[in-house]
Order: sequence, then structure tokens, then C-alpha cells
Amino acid sequence: MLYDKISARAIDTDANSSGLQSVDVRHISQYHLRCEESKGVWINAAINKIVHYQYSFYKQTPIRRPHKNCSKMPLRYATWTDLLPASHAASAAFFDEALFGPIIHPHRRTYPGDVYLFFLRYFRQTFFSATDTILVSYPSASPSTVTAVGIWTRKGAGGVKLERQQGWTVWLTGKLFQGVNKIHELLYPNRAADPAKIDILERSYAWIKHHWTGERANSWYLNLLATDPNFEKMGYGRLLVSWGTQRAKEEGVCASLISAEGREEFYRKCGFEGPVGWASEGEDNPIAHVSGGAIMFTEAFKQG
Ligand SMILES: CC(C)(COP(=O)(O)OP(=O)(O)OC[C@H]1O[C@@H](n2cnc3c(N)ncnc32)[C@H](O)[C@@H]1OP(=O)(O)O)[C@@H](O)C(=O)NCCC(=O)NCCS
Repeated sequence: MLYDKISARAIDTDANSSGLQSVDVRHISQYHLRCEESKGVWINAAINKIVHYQYSFYKQTPIRRPHKNCSKMPLRYATWTDLLPASHAASAAFFDEALFGPIIHPHRRTYPGDVYLFFLRYFRQTFFSATDTILVSYPSASPSTVTAVGIWTRKGAGGVKLERQQGWTVWLTGKLFQGVNKIHELLYPNRAADPAKIDILERSYAWIKHHWTGERANSWYLNLLATDPNFEKMGYGRLLVSWGTQRAKEEGVCASLISAEGREEFYRKCGFEGPVGWASEGEDNPIAHVSGGAIMFTEAFKQG
């Protein structure tokens, strides 16, 4: 099976380098990406054609330029095809992050391709969500190179409005792909993950959802942000963040996020304040032992 070949290659690569812990994740992921693309190139192209019309139909808001560097580093709404390189960027960026790395994916070094598929399925599921917007950045000289990916979610009344605006064909296609995703997961289970912890993040929301109430209920929430490690510190992360903070300002609401450990300073540079709380707070919170998780908001909610 494809994934066994990948694991075998992971171990080969490892044997040729310096031990199991130092397996070349990027190399494996690139290999995996090529496999996905070559076996599915026409399928993905066809799906892209079918779904992109529907997707762009309701995501008509033009991408405004949130940053002066935007001509060199443009953004676009992710296409179906973009989800492949975007998953590659996310799996590489989060590979050793405290939550997605050792806790959710303790066997990631043995099965690195499964982490990639975890993000691919997540992006495919999110693609049709009315309240979520997937954006990718790329260098203007190379539009097919995805340098970073971000998902912004509209929470509160604004999100309900977006759900009402979504056409039934998009909704139905989304449901169909949820089923496809489930079958994909049965065929290719996530062997890198700890099954008891895979939904740990979703389960922890019950402990912190009170932060998104009252004047903060209506918010643009940064659901995911990942810059491909090859393109870090070039401004792509800030560009993706500024798309959401600008939308929030325009709509007179706040922007919010939960920061990974050590990223708080980056978000402060992007206009966020706090923490107002922690993702790990509360008795019996399943992620009580996880470091990081600062809950941060922009000031806009004070004006909202
Ligand atoms: C955090 C992350 C998205 C930053 O992306 P990036 O594209 O490298 O960020 P940018 O180049 O836009 O950085 C903007 C500014 O923040 C600074 N910065 C970037 N990462 C930083 C960090 N961890 N701590 C402090 N400052 C940071 C940059 O130096 C730059 O500063 P400058 O404008 O003064 O030069 C990226 O490192 C990443 O994907 N990390 C792994 C996944 C992750 O943790 N995602 C966030 C989950 S909440």
C-alpha cells in the first residue's frame, strides 16, 4: 500500500541519516505529495473545476490588499488543488508543535505521511464550511507555490449570516465530501495519532467558550495559521493574519485566536493583545497539561 511504501522510505531515509528521531520529514512529505498528485492529478483537476465555481460563488468578497507587500506576496482564496501543498505546509509547520506534534501525533516520525493526510482531510472538510475561509499566500513569481495557509472563522451573528447565504448546492457538495473524507480515513487511518487524543482540541472548547460571549461573541477567529518552514520570517504569516484583522475592523468586531507556545510575540506584532485566558484553563480540561494556548483578542471589540 502507498502508505507502507512511505513508511518504508521513512525508515530508509532514517537509516541513511542519523537515527529514527531525525527522519527527513520534508523529504517524506514531498514524496507523499508527489504520490497524491500523480495518482490523483486528473481527479483533483476535475474536482477543482467542479467545486471551485461553487466555492467562489459565495466567497465573492474581493481579496483586498491588507499589506503594502501584497503585490510581492499575494493572497488568494484556496482552491481545491491548493489544499495539497497547503497540507504539506501545515504538516511541516506543526510537526513538532506541542499539541499537534507529540500529543496528538506521538507516532509521527514513523508515519509522517499520515500527519499530512490529517491536515488534508481537515482542509477538505473545512473547504465547504460557510463560516470558514481558507487563504493561501504565494510568491508573485510562482503562484503555484503555497508559502503559508490560514483559516479564518466567522463566529457569532456574522457566521450565522454567512451560513444562511450559502447556496444549497455548496452545502450538499460539502456533505458529500464529508462522506468521502470518512471513507478516505477508513482506507488510510491516521497511524501517527493517539486515537484517545485526536479530538482533544475540540473537547477542550467547552472549558473556554465563555471567552467568546458578550461583546466578544461576534468575532473573526484565526482557526489555523501555518507558514511552510522554508518561507518563515518573510512576512507571509503576518499577511494572512492581517486579512482577518482587517475584516474584523471593517465589520466593527474583534479578531481572536489561541496562540501556540512561543508565538504570542508574533501575534502582538500583528495587533493582538492579551492573553485574556488560556486554552488549558479549568478543572479537568483535557489539555490542562499542554503548554501555550494564550487566548488573544484585538482591540477592535472595544469599539464594536
Ligand atoms: C508562527 C508563524 C505562523 C509565523 O509565520 P511567519 O510567516 O514566519 O511570520 P512573519 O514572517 O509574517 O513574521 C512577522 C513578524 O513576526 C516575527 N516573528 C515570526 N515568528 C515569531 C515568533 N515565533 N516570535 C516572535 N516574533 C516572531 C517576524 O520576525 C516578523 O517581525 P518583523 O516584522 O519585526 O520583522 C510560523 O512560524 C509558523 O507557521 N509556525 C509553526 C506553526 C504555528 O505555530 N502556527 C501558529 C499557531 S497559533
